[in-house]
Formats: sequence, C-alpha cells, structure tokens
Amino acid sequence: MYLDPVIQASAEKVAAARTENVKLDPRRMTAEEKDQLLKTYHPDYREDQFQILRAGPNKGDKVPHELASLLQARSRVDPAQTSLDAPDYDVDVLVIGGGGAGTSAAIEAHEAGANVMVVTKLRMGDANTMMAEGGIQAAGKPNDSPAQHFLDAYGGGHFAAQKDLLAKLVTEAPEAIRWLSELGVEFDKAPDGTMITTHGGGTSRKRMHAAKDYSGAEIMRTLRDEVLNRQIPVVDFTAAIELVLDENGRCAGAVLMNMETRERKLARAKTVILATGGAGRLHYQGFPTSNHYGATADGLVLAYRAGARLLYADTLQYHPTGAAFPAQIFGALVTEKVRSVGAMLINANGEAFMNPLETRDVSAASIIRECSDRGSGVKTPAGYAVWLDTPMIELKHGKGTIEKRIPAMMRMFGKYGIDIRVDPILVYPTLHYQNGGLKITVDGQTDIENLFAAGEVVGGIHGRNRLMGNSLLDIIVFGRNAGRSAAEKSRGVQPEKLTLAHVDQFHRLLDQSGAGSGAVSPKLLPTYNSLGKDF
Ligand code: FUM
Repeated sequence: MYLDPVIQASAEKVAAARTENVKLDPRRMTAEEKDQLLKTYHPDYREDQFQILRAGPNKGDKVPHELASLLQARSRVDPAQTSLDAPDYDVDVLVIGGGGAGTSAAIEAHEAGANVMVVTKLRMGDANTMMAEGGIQAAGKPNDSPAQHFLDAYGGGHFAAQKDLLAKLVTEAPEAIRWLSELGVEFDKAPDGTMITTHGGGTSRKRMHAAKDYSGAEIMRTLRDEVLNRQIPVVDFTAAIELVLDENGRCAGAVLMNMETRERKLARAKTVILATGGAGRLHYQGFPTSNHYGATADGLVLAYRAGARLLYADTLQYHPTGAAFPAQIFGALVTEKVRSVGAMLINANGEAFMNPLETRDVSAASIIRECSDRGSGVKTPAGYAVWLDTPMIELKHGKGTIEKRIPAMMRMFGKYGIDIRVDPILVYPTLHYQNGGLKITVDGQTDIENLFAAGEVVGGIHGRNRLMGNSLLDIIVFGRNAGRSAAEKSRGVQPEKLTLAHVDQFHRLLDQSGAGSGAVSPKLLPTYNSLGKDF
C-alpha cells in the first residue's frame, strides 16, 4: 500500500491487470526497433552530454563531460616537490584496489610466489563487487557452451567486444566458478547438488549462478578471507594518486595518499595492477547510481596521464531497474534477477510494455521512452518511473519464492514498509557500469609496460553493452589473469630510477593545447562527501 494517492491508484491498476499480464510473453524487439529505440532514448546517444578530448592518448575521442574534466585535469602531485629516492614500500606486485578484481589478482600473484601488496582507498571489499546481486555467468550445463555464451555476449555488446578478451572470459568461466566454489563461495544448489542457474537479459541459456540476490557479497566475503588467510599485506584508506614510471617509461610504482591524514607515501613495484573499479559516482547526466561510494574513475585518470589508451569510454550502462522510490534508496540496484524469476515491467496504466529480458541498454531506453514521450510513467517525488510487478513472482512460482530467491530485495524495500510480495515496486534506470575503460592485451597489460589492469577499469571485454553476470565473471577471470601475468613479468624486472616526468609532460600538453579543465584528479570521493566539496 502506497500512501501517495497517485502512486497507489496506479499500483491498483497493476494489481487489477496482474492475472492477465502474468500470462503474457511480450515479443522481443527486432534489431531495427532496438537500434531506433537506443538512438532516440538511450543516454549514450545524447550528444550534448559528451565532449571531444583535446589532449592525451585518446585525443579526438568522445567521452562524457564529467570524465573529460578529470582526464584533462592536473595531478595532485607536484613532481618538483616529490622525492622518489626512498620508497616506503618495495614490492614485486602492487595491486591498486581492494574489490573483486584486485583481491583475485593479489591471490594469484601471491600463489605465483610474488611479494604482493594491496592498497585501497577505503577498505578491502568496499567496492562494486560487494554490491553485485544477481549472479555470475558460466556455461557449465550440458545444453550450453562457451561458444553459446560468446554469441550472447558478443551480440548483446553490439558486436564491439574485443574478441580475444571475450573468448577468454567465456572459456575460463566454468573454471572461475570452480575456483570460487573451492575457496568457499556458497552458490545456490538444487537438492542433488547441481547448480541452480537462471536467465539474465540477453542470455539464450540459463547460466547465471547466484548466491540468492547477494552474490557479490558472498564472493567478496570469500576473496577477502583468502587475502587475509594468506596474510597478503593490505594498506587501507590509502589512495594511489599518481603512477610512477621508470626512466624507460615502464610502470614502477605509485604515489600514495592516506585518506585521513593526507600523508604521502611512495610504493615502488616491479609491476602494478590497476583494479580501481568504475565511475558511477561521477553521476553522468545527473543519473543516480547503484555504485559504491568510491567509484570515481581514478584508475582511468592515473593510467591516461601516464599514456594508456581507453576503449569505448563513451559507453555507459544504465541498469534498467534502479529503485525509484522511496527516496532513501533512490538509484539502488534492483537486481535483474527479479525479472529473471518472473516479475514484469508494467507502465502506469497497468500495461506490460516490453519483454522483461531484453538486454540492459534496450530495457533502459524502453523505460525512458515510457516515462517521456509515451507519458506512461508513474509520477514520483523524484520524477517518473515504471512498475516492476514483483507479486507476479509468487503467482508464477508459489508463495515463499521471493523470500527464498531474492531476500535482499525483500529486506531493502521492507525497511520502508513496502512488502514486495504484495506491492509492485517503482524503478527507473540508474548508472551502473562503465562499459569502456583501459585497453588491455589478453595478458591484462595496458599500453604501458608493467602496468596491468583488471575489473571495471578495463574496457573492451563486453563491447558497448554488458550482459548481467558477466562483470562478476570478468573480475575473477581477468583479476586472476592479471595477478598471474604481473607476477610472471615481475620476475624479469630490474628496478631503475623512478620518475614523474610524465606528469610534467602531461601538464605541458594541457597548457599547450588549452585543454586543461582546471580540475585536479583523481577525484577519490564524490563531491557530496561530508565536507560538501571536492575531497
Ligand atoms: O542486476 C544485477 O543483479 C546486476 C548484475 C550485473 O551487473 O552483472
């Protein structure tokens, strides 16, 4: 029961239409319909929200204004004032970032015998991985194959994925599940011990493995335990604020900053792995986000300034179902699993306006169309939204299904008096993922020798749109891969003189081109921190 009379009246229309709607299987859109829909309604196509980079490795490319401002910003570090003579830390492999990709990398680098250290600007596990809900894809069932998984992801990503990266992702997926299971991840299983798998948007087979609807938390818990068990050093509340190179232009460490005291430290490393995650907290186009507090594109900025190219930095993922009401959870993720277990998207008039398992970009654009030109959105205090008809799930699968399959969703809304077994919920797209990021080789190396990258900071694995469950997969496959590659590479590296000359060079480039935004980067925390201004 919603107290707002307009919302309640619409919820009643949804309830009245439910028994008919639940029988429907709305048709999938044709390729032409999808193209037209995306061009007209998807935020990636709003030209006024992007600008052309005027300096750096991606000069001439289009990126969102907020990202351009950080990429074409000045460093927090003044090379003239920074001594590189006496490193505070000296390791084989430095991992920057303590989420799923960083911890997977650290575990494998450690396993390979490297002296590895993790630095993270908040705490280990404060990352988008922890907030991932729906699951992780892997083609492990007899009716499925990595080739089928490849085709789904390649098509879903608009045929733009780097084929070698995507092939690695899908081929190593079953092994990723095995590795996680052996480390202790409790995936949902049937009584006979087989994995329970479901569909996600754009999947032709049920290959989503989950731990209810807190899959990321379960995975992160396990990875964190493994890092602790191995006694891998983790320096928390410490951000990397600049990469350090050697005189041959190879990555050789980072300048670090304690987030509380602002004290600076120097880490020298034979190889470095960037696993800093995404950028949702830049709130592109004013969208709310499902992302963790620390998702401010730091890794993109650091690597870009040192000379690494980005791929597809103009493509973002707006998760179709962010919570649109109540205000306390505005933008929070409502997992796609809610749709894969049976809830449909319904407009203000009680109509099922699309197939609930179209790919994310298409679903988001379709919701935006419903709420704009079609005038079929539900008015909320924050704007417009559509319904996700959660009570349908129990109509289809019986009482108790919601509590069993999506208990975190039930709790999240329950805290605000909304019982999702009885009432539908209001959703609208929320900024969820950066499809683009650093260009890497299949070994995980960026354009800069000895600088590796893994996780959301990487671009190209998923092309221009990612399918559900392929991100938890990519942090494991490419995190482990980067850890192994960086450890292996570190064995042949002789330490050389450290330098920050690339920072001076980048500053000169900004001055000469007039491209400087006037900002300082990396941003580290969103602007609405407790100080009310940039950190
Ligand atoms: O909807 C979700 O649970 C999100 C999954 C993902 O981004 O892979």
